[in-house]
Order: sequence, then structure tokens, then C-alpha cells
Amino acid sequence: MKGLILSGGKGTRLYPLTYTRAKQLIPVANKPVLVRVIEAIRDAGIEDIGIVTGDTGPEIREALGNGERWGVNLTYIPQDAPMGLAHAVKISRDFLGNDRFVMFLGDNVIQGGINDLIRQFGTSDWNSQIVLTEVEEPQHYGVAELSPEGQILRLVEKPREPQSNLALVGIYMFDHHIHEACEAIKPSWRGELEITDAIQWLVENGYAVHPYVHRGWWIDTGKPIDMLDANDHVLEELEHRVEGFIDRQSRVDKRVTVESGAEVINSVVRGPAIIGRGTRVVNSYIGPFTSIYHDVVIEDSEIEHSIVLEHSEIVGIPNRIADSLIGRNVKLTRSPIKPSAHKLALGDYSEVGLL
Ligand code: DAU
Repeated sequence: MKGLILSGGKGTRLYPLTYTRAKQLIPVANKPVLVRVIEAIRDAGIEDIGIVTGDTGPEIREALGNGERWGVNLTYIPQDAPMGLAHAVKISRDFLGNDRFVMFLGDNVIQGGINDLIRQFGTSDWNSQIVLTEVEEPQHYGVAELSPEGQILRLVEKPREPQSNLALVGIYMFDHHIHEACEAIKPSWRGELEITDAIQWLVENGYAVHPYVHRGWWIDTGKPIDMLDANDHVLEELEHRVEGFIDRQSRVDKRVTVESGAEVINSVVRGPAIIGRGTRVVNSYIGPFTSIYHDVVIEDSEIEHSIVLEHSEIVGIPNRIADSLIGRNVKLTRSPIKPSAHKLALGDYSEVGLL
């Protein structure tokens, strides 16, 4: 079996962070979502993985290389424009050949990995297996209607009036018949070749599509709040370890990871939380559900339920920062220069909530 990861697209809902970075490379609990996806596929026993990339292809290639760091072989498949998930399958035809494969959206995080799903599909004669889960706002997803016996009746992409609350999770398994389906379908109202329509074509043409209903958590990290949600879940399940330095004046909970080269000085860290390599936390409070990435400085400040990316500095901020997503190389300091005022240099589409 092969793996296909989709990492094209624009990531507009995560502006301004995604002006300068592929959304799939934003870390959750200090590991890029895309790396979590590669590890999930590898752990299910698959080594040949294709990655469909768009505008941010060079950055993704630089971050992942040939995949040997994770014990996989990566093949890059550039897509000229985000013309749909089924379009991504179409342009991957040479890489996929006639093999069975799992397709995983590069911005999805799921509880429990995909080992069981892959084993089930690998030993079945199904032509496809899809993963469904109950959601509160199905209109934002592909939606499946099942019969009372649990067979798929219909799949609709982002329906205005959803007929069920079962959304398609971004993990799909196919055999080679999906290629015929992708050739047969036409672009949707939003101008994309929808994988949902291709699967519907399989169902209508008598192919066996097995619906698996996932009961744990699953997050499509499209918006900042989704990133924080995913961070909460992963931090809670992480096996925490301390490899960095904690001084005697500090109080650090059990459920805290301090990566190597990190320093916690005269500070309180409440878990679950993670402090990245080379990061310094001095005279500060780090509250639960916080991920501080590598080479960050937090001094004389308080922060909780947030993600801070690499090389940022938060120094001398008197009010606690919470529920925040802070990008790379951000400087958040007190200004000694008069007039005393908030002095901001924010990128387009930044959002700031002042006290
Ligand atoms: O997350 C689950 C949902 O993902 C499903 O419920 C929907 O049925 C499915 O269509 C998809 O919907 P989204 O609107 O969330 O897809 P999005 O455009 O965000 O793209 C998902 C990933 O695939 C993202 O990492 C970018 C990548 N992509 C997307 C398109 C349209 C590509 O690589 N190429 C593309 O052409």
C-alpha cells in the first residue's frame, strides 16, 4: 500500500501565520501537523508516501527532505493550483500506479493513529474505506447519509441542509477504481473536483465503499481555534519528559515536557505544556495547554492556553496572555519610550484583543 498526503491549498483561514508559512508546517505540541501525518502513515506500515504540494512546495520540501528522518520515502507531486482533492489524486496517478493507497489531508490530526484502519482495509476486498465522525456543524464538511443498516446512501460536499451529522474525516482508502471515478466526475459549484463526488460515483457504480465511524477526537486545523484545540488534545496525550534544565526556584508540573537545551528559571509551569529546545523561561508563568516552540524567550510574563512559534520573545508583559497563537520572530515587549501607548507593527489580517 502507498500513502498520499495533500498539502496544497492556501490556508487563508490561518492568516497572518500562513502568509509566510505552509499551514501544514505549523506545530501542534511542538511537532508540525504534517510530520504527525507522516508518522501516523509510517506507523501503519507504509513507507512510500507521495506529497501533493502547492505554492508552499519549496518550504515543505526543505522541511521534510526525502523523508529518511522518519524512515519513509517521500515523492513530491506539485499541483499548479488547488483544483480539488480528486484533482490531487488525478495528478498522482503515476506515483500511485494500480496500488491500494491511503489518502490523508495534511492538516488533519486524529486520535489513535490509523493502524487499525489500514489493517482492516488491507485485508478486505472493499474498493474504498472512508472515515466518518459526528460533528456539530456538518455544513462545513463532506457529509454522509447512511441507511439503517449502515450502508452509504449518499455523500454531499458542504451541503446547505445536511441530512446527517456524519462528516467525512480527511482520511480515505482506495483501490485503483478511484482513478476511473476521478476521470468521470465534473467540477462542483466551487470549481473543484471533489473527492466526495468521486466516492459517490464509486457507490453509484456498485463498488464497495465501507464507512468506518471514528469515535475519538479529530481536528481539521483550518482556523486558529482549531490549532489550539488540537494542541490541547495532543498535549494531554503526550508522554512528558524533562531533558532541559529546571532551577531550584522553579515549580514544574509532572505533565510538562522540557526539551533538551531549554531552561526554566525562577518560574512556574503548569501542565500539560511543552517548552521547546533552546527556549528560556525566566521569572514567568506558563499555564496549562501551552506549547512554546524552540529558541523562544519568555521573561517576566504570564501565558496560558497558547502556541508560541520559534524565535519569538515575550518580555515584561504584565497582563496574562491567553488563547493566543503567536508566530515566528514576534517581539512582544514593554516600550520605555514615551508616549506610553500600545505600539504595534502587525501583519495584515492580524487579530489582537487588548485589555
Ligand atoms: O477536513 C475534512 C474535510 O476536508 C472533508 O469533510 C471534506 O469532505 C473535504 O472536501 C475537505 O474539505 P476542506 O474544505 O476542509 O478541504 P481543504 O480545501 O481545506 O483542503 C484539505 C487539504 O488538502 C489541505 O491540507 C490542502 C489540501 N489540498 C486541497 C485542495 C483543494 C490540496 O493539496 N489540493 C487541493 O486542490
